[in-house]
Amino acid sequence: MSALEGLSGEVLEIGFGDGETFACYADSARVQAVEKDEKAVNRAARLLEVLRKTNISLHHGSAETLPFEDNRFDAVCISFLLCSVDDQTRAVAEIYRVLKPGGKLLAIEHTLSNRVMIRSAQRILTPPLAPLSGNCHLDSEPLKAILSRPFQIIRTESMPFFLEPRLFVEAKKGAGG
Ligand SMILES: C[S@@+](CC[C@H](N)C(=O)[O-])C[C@H]1O[C@@H](n2cnc3c(N)ncnc32)[C@H](O)[C@@H]1O
Repeated sequence: MSALEGLSGEVLEIGFGDGETFACYADSARVQAVEKDEKAVNRAARLLEVLRKTNISLHHGSAETLPFEDNRFDAVCISFLLCSVDDQTRAVAEIYRVLKPGGKLLAIEHTLSNRVMIRSAQRILTPPLAPLSGNCHLDSEPLKAILSRPFQIIRTESMPFFLEPRLFVEAKKGAGG
């Protein structure tokens, strides 16, 4: 979460769920927060009142059709979003579109393991588990999805976590857009 604390300017978070990240944003960040689940948006509105955060605006919407103009954001933050969207390529294309040239994507996602046994288990378990877990795909490949647009990868960090090995990605939209 410390990666979020240093953000300022125009920030977009997509798929905020229970809003666990909201307390991390500095007051200098103007945050637009988009979530597909309308009930989660309503819960988050109450949370923002409790936190007294006035710099975060909530939107009911979808990663695949973001309601923002091109080149608007200094940073886009996602946590465990790409595993559950219907169309990863489209979501990443939208993230790329709304980032300013030079803007950053900060993503923490779980990913397909590079260990054969775990990868097989992830592939076998995804079809039965996805409908029971908010469309979460254990066999998601977030880095592959991110690289479907011409992002420059600044940093990746892998963390083993059995069936959900985690991957942190910091990537940049090139200055030329
Ligand atoms: C696994 S939860 C992660 C929630 C939160 N980011 C976290 O790390 O605790 C995925 C969230 O993404 C939302 N979501 C799924 N598909 C989405 C989409 N296409 N557009 C926006 N939000 C979406 C879900 O409603 C859910 O709140």
